[in-house]
This record gives sequence, C-alpha cells and structure tokens, in this order.
Amino acid sequence: MTTNASDLTRTLEALREEALRALDAAESEERLEAWRVAYLGRREGKLTLAMRQLGALSPEARPAAGAAANQVKLALDEGLARRQEALKERALERMAQAQRLDVTMPGRPVPLGRLHPTTQMLREVLDAFTSMGFQVAEGPEVELDRYNFELLNIPKGHPARDMWDTLWIDHTDANGERPMLLRTHTSPMQARVMEKTEPPVRVVVPGKVYRYENTDATHEWHFHQVEGLAVDEGITFANLKGTLYEFARRIFGPERRVRFRCDYFPFVEPGVDMAMDCFMCKGEGHLRSGGRSQPCRVCKETGWIEIMGAGMVHPRVLEMVGYDPQKYTGFAFGLGVERIAMLKHGIDDIRLFYANDVRFLRQF
Ligand code: DAH
Repeated sequence: MTTNASDLTRTLEALREEALRALDAAESEERLEAWRVAYLGRREGKLTLAMRQLGALSPEARPAAGAAANQVKLALDEGLARRQEALKERALERMAQAQRLDVTMPGRPVPLGRLHPTTQMLREVLDAFTSMGFQVAEGPEVELDRYNFELLNIPKGHPARDMWDTLWIDHTDANGERPMLLRTHTSPMQARVMEKTEPPVRVVVPGKVYRYENTDATHEWHFHQVEGLAVDEGITFANLKGTLYEFARRIFGPERRVRFRCDYFPFVEPGVDMAMDCFMCKGEGHLRSGGRSQPCRVCKETGWIEIMGAGMVHPRVLEMVGYDPQKYTGFAFGLGVERIAMLKHGIDDIRLFYANDVRFLRQF
C-alpha cells in the first residue's frame, strides 16, 4: 500500500476537527473516557491508526507529515485536559450550589410551649402561702378510706360522707388495708403529715382530686385543690383570718375584703366558708356603665364570691393522730385551683381546662 503524504495530512486535519467537535459533546467522565479510547487509544484509537501510516511514507515526506501529526496529537491531548478540567469545575460548582448556606437568613422559630393555666394558678397559690412560711407536701391520689374519711372525723356510715361523691377502688394497699378510693379532697394529707411530724406544722398540699360526678360548666370529675394546715400552741381563729385575708389580697388585689360565714365540715370546728368581695363589681352586685346599671355575673349579683372552706382543726382530728388537743390548736383550709383561676381570668366553663384546645391554652 502506498501512502500519499498530502492524503495523510488531510486525513489528520479532518480527524482533528471531528475529534474536537466530539470532545465538546462529551458531558460526563464516562463519555470523556470513551472519547479518549476512540481517538487516542493505543490499539484502536483513530489518531493512533493514522500515525501508524507515517511509516509507509517516503523518507522525504515523513518529517513534515510527522510534525503535522504531532500537532494534531498535541491539540487532542490539550483538548482532553481542558475538557476534564471544565467538567471537574462544573461538578464542584454544582456541589457548592447544593450546599449553599445563607447566613443572613433569619432562624426558624422554635415553637415554645407554656404552662397550663391550672399549673400557673397552682404555683401562684403556693407562692402566696410559701412566702408566709408554709411548706409544700404532696400525697397519694389513690387513698385509703381511713385517711380520706375516718381520720378526718367522718366515720363509716356517717351521713357527711354524702358531701363527697366517691370513686371507690377495688384494691388493697401494701399492708393489706382497704377500702381504697380516689381521694375526694386533699384533706387526707392533714392526717398523713401530722402522723409523721411533731408540731409546729405549717403545710400546703397541692394535688388532683376526684369526684363521682356529672360534669357541667362548674363541675369536673377531677380537678385540683390546695389544702392548708397550721398547728401549733396558741393558734387562734385570728391566725386563720389573717392568713387567708392576706392570701385573698395577694391573688385578687390589695383592696379585697373578706367575709367568713359558718359552714359545716366534720374535720373543723367551727367551720367556715370564706368569701371575698367581688373584684368585678367591687362588692356592689351590679356594674355601672354610662349611667346604666347591669347585673354582675361574676358574683351573681351578691357582691361576694366564695373561695374556700376553712376552720379550726377539730380536737378529734388532733387526737386521732396523737396530738394533745389541750396543748395544740390549728386551722385548716381547702380551695379549688380551677375555681380560683376561673374567677381570676373570667373563665366560665371548668371543662375548658381539660379540653386540650390550644386556642384556649394559648391565652394564658
Ligand atoms: N376538703 C373540703 C372539700 O373538699 C374543703 C375544706 C374545707 C378543707 C374546710 C379544709 C377545711 O381543710 O378546713 O370540700
């Protein structure tokens, strides 16, 4: 086979053009590698094959054609390197784009919860009493008849038991004692605390209580109470009054007045119901607006709001826990936490506290 120098040079030129065009179309590492094999591959590369034909040229034609072939080879090598570089750069750019972070962007808000209105009220009530020297104690919600009733001077079969609609539990405690129940009030802690302590006692007991009761706007089958107990030598009704008066003023405002009326609870004597003048109508029973008078709904036109039961601890109660009623006297009180919160915030349905509706909860 004779090889013509100018034919070979033309072939090389055409090859250069074709190869560089193909190079521009190679969009990936794999395509680039395929291109390299196709043109520069040692065995079957198109340029390799063309260069092999140099040997068939006449010695005079060979140097010029050889130089031309080398230039094409150089051009392809350079083209390959450039293309490789470009592809690498593009990949880096894409990566940077994906990881781009704008440090000037505002942070995403973290949703923050808040305390339940009952918890807030509970803490406020406890703060008022602890700042007057009371300690906080908690007791069991599943309680013995003995503490919930008997040690509070409410013996079995006593009609006063009807004051507390009770959820009884078919269960025996660790010492084999029964009957058990869900505590109907926080008062059982009076006996539990006194059994374990010598006077003086100043304690408040927050906690959940249960009643076998139909629910409506003012009744729930469970709610929270705070019990209070102070026992020492020489405690009088004046101490009870002073303490609870101070409490009312702290929670409902310094201008509050209080009223005590006789009430019956088997564990106190005398027993009272404490009320304060209505903070809405200032004890008037009606609200005046623009010369006209409107009935006050908060106190139901009475001017007074009942906020808790209280009294002087019954001597029998002291006796039953082993205190000498000749030496010690005391006062006790119990209040409903949701009721206080309802009064304070103007909430008209106790069921809202347990409905878990954030539209309600967010308001506190
Ligand atoms: N335990 C009573 C109840 O749940 C409230 C109460 C009244 C508690 C008078 C007392 C008290 O400590 O002295 O209805």
